[in-house]
Amino acid sequence: MSVRAKDFDEKARGEFARIGTTRVRRGELLRHPVYTRFLHWSVAIFFILSLLTGFAIYSPWLFHWIAPLFGGGPRTRLLHPWFGLVFTVFFFFQFLNWFVPMAWTEADRRWTKRLRQYAMNEEGRELEDVGFFNGGQKLYFWAIVVSAILFLITGVLMWFDHLVGRWIVAVSYVIHDLAALVMLAGFIIHVYEGTAHQPGTFRSMIDGTVTEDWARTHHPAWFRTATDSHEEAQKTRE
Ligand code: HEM
Repeated sequence: MSVRAKDFDEKARGEFARIGTTRVRRGELLRHPVYTRFLHWSVAIFFILSLLTGFAIYSPWLFHWIAPLFGGGPRTRLLHPWFGLVFTVFFFFQFLNWFVPMAWTEADRRWTKRLRQYAMNEEGRELEDVGFFNGGQKLYFWAIVVSAILFLITGVLMWFDHLVGRWIVAVSYVIHDLAALVMLAGFIIHVYEGTAHQPGTFRSMIDGTVTEDWARTHHPAWFRTATDSHEEAQKTRE
């Protein structure tokens, strides 16, 4: 599976690189190519649409102002599973795109031990062995993987509730809502981390680049690999 997934992913990256461009200036590094950015924002849009329609169905006091945005109550109920399905499909491709750099390592275990210092912003610079993603980013990614699987299974069971037993539907509601709460908490932390907590991160999902200073500070091990390969490529050209 992993070789075919990698082949597919590389082909998709190549195709998207022809449609859009990423300009890397002096003192910058490429962080997220066009394909990754396309997937990330597609996942984000359909996640937010699922969240809003889900809220409207779940809570009557939110319902009265969210449901009209989607054309009323019945339309909101109709759209929610479709938004969820599209979110799952895009996230599946994002999973193929990222599962290699998201592999859990010994460095990530060390990172999680310093979670408090990280959250309190006590140390300006990350540990030397922090690679492309840190332990917190990986935990978020794997939480989405598990939640997306649970959303899909329980969502389909609730969608076709006339085909399965009532207790299965009841259990599905509970699991679906718990997964949504985990995702909501993760989403709030994620937006804070990607914007206010780490200035310079947000642009990586807009124009695809970060400054070398940013990389050296937040992902030192990745910075070393990225700049080594850059220098080697330059030497080969000379
Ligand atoms: C709408 C607001 C959002 C903003 C501002 C945002 C921002 C970002 C940024 C800047 C990165 C790159 C981080 C880096 O390169 O180190 C990123 C990565 C990522 N995003 Fe988002 N994102 C948003 C929504 C979402 C949503 C809705 C999901 C999924 C449900 C998501 C899932 C991820 C994942 C899994 C990563 C990689 C791991 C990580 O950086 O935590 N994002 N996001």
